[in-house]
Amino acid sequence: MKRTKYFLDERDIPKQWYNIVADLDGTLLPVLHPGTGKPVGPQDLVPIFPMALIEQEVSRDRFIDIPEEVIEAYTLWRPTPLYRARNLEARLKTPARIYYKHEGVSPTGSHKPNTAIAQAYYNKREGIKRLTTETGAGQWGSALSFACNAFDLECKVYMVRVSYEQKPYRRIMMESWGAAVVPSPSTDTTAGRKILEADPETSGSLGIAISEAVNDAATDESTKYSLGSVLNHVLLHQTVIGLEAHKQMDMAGDYPDVVIGCVGGGSNFSGLVFPFLRDKIEGRHVRAVAVEPAACPTLTRGIFTYDFGDAAELTPLIPMFTLGHKFVPATIHAGGLRYHGDSPLLSELVRKGLAEARAYHQNEVFDAALTFARTEGILPAPETAHAIKAVVDEALVAKEEGREKVILFNLSGHGHFDLAAYDAYIQGELADYELPEAEITGALEDLAGLPKVE
Ligand SMILES: Cc1ncc(COP(=O)(O)O)c(C=O)c1O
Repeated sequence: MKRTKYFLDERDIPKQWYNIVADLDGTLLPVLHPGTGKPVGPQDLVPIFPMALIEQEVSRDRFIDIPEEVIEAYTLWRPTPLYRARNLEARLKTPARIYYKHEGVSPTGSHKPNTAIAQAYYNKREGIKRLTTETGAGQWGSALSFACNAFDLECKVYMVRVSYEQKPYRRIMMESWGAAVVPSPSTDTTAGRKILEADPETSGSLGIAISEAVNDAATDESTKYSLGSVLNHVLLHQTVIGLEAHKQMDMAGDYPDVVIGCVGGGSNFSGLVFPFLRDKIEGRHVRAVAVEPAACPTLTRGIFTYDFGDAAELTPLIPMFTLGHKFVPATIHAGGLRYHGDSPLLSELVRKGLAEARAYHQNEVFDAALTFARTEGILPAPETAHAIKAVVDEALVAKEEGREKVILFNLSGHGHFDLAAYDAYIQGELADYELPEAEITGALEDLAGLPKVE
């Protein structure tokens, strides 16, 4: 019988996360303090993060132990299955073998709880009572609400206004786990009020919501801030995905020629890809393809420089590909990919040529999503559908070239809360947004006074 799924046992949940920093020969640029222009030290981060996470953020250890309590919480959904997408292969008539790691089976429907659980655990251990965060599509907010509930912490979520309006069910899900949710920009924070004064009609952005969540945490001692992507420790926690997938590919007797993931801040892509990039750094052939929306093309059209992680300039300066921290992307349906910057680690890998990047428009992305739904049965999140579009393209290239190719991608989440977007696509009402070069140039002007990368 042909095999479709590869399962690991609960005993196979990784006991350590993989830290790719150890294998990057010390070339990473430091994060800078915007006031002094000097590298930030642990003390600068104490108002917003617990010490255990600050240590992970700067760690150079190759492997970091996963606490027993976190592994226990992971057992609710980990290990996740690896699938062979045989029906999709047949539909595309491709000689490629396509595999996907299904992170949509988590309680909240995406990869995000892999880090939410870890972050809630460390905050609880250090006596913190309440966490704040931002959310775009609502996936990260759901994950942190779920994790705060698991570790008995209060949770406040600043949800990007456009998603708050498009996706009431995600808000209800967060509230069901006990979180307080407000549309961002809100009047609850100084940062939010300032932005609303300047533009009362703003649709919001992840950059703005981050400002509010950081502002809230920095002004209350028992509150810390939690970020769902971008930072080293978040990417670190997500490596459970790739560590499991590595074993499962062994079970399948295959090894990927190309590993693909969508990119918002870079966490699901990196989580799957880093353990395979470790092989690449050691000389094995494997490509890594990061996929982003054409409406927010950070890696493909942004510049690599120092920039703020948020719109109100409250965060340290991060070396990354960016479109400028004031850039507000068009309101596409992949809300989780509407971030002006990218993880510094992933940015560095793209700069080094260890990962490739490409961008797609949302109509072609939803077309690929429906092909996937009609073959594999799963309705993917619009974010995930970006990866699927790249998978389809890679499989069609293999067909054209008449050669075998092994493709592995991250099914980062299901799209059960994104049905309005599917409806708009099916009704032919979805617009593609051609981002003019002038808009990017304009947004980058805000970076004029900031340090540059040599
Ligand atoms: C399902 C899903 N995939 C991907 C992403 C993008 O985030 P990241 O690049 O951190 O994986 C999000 C963000 O909300 C998401 O909800």
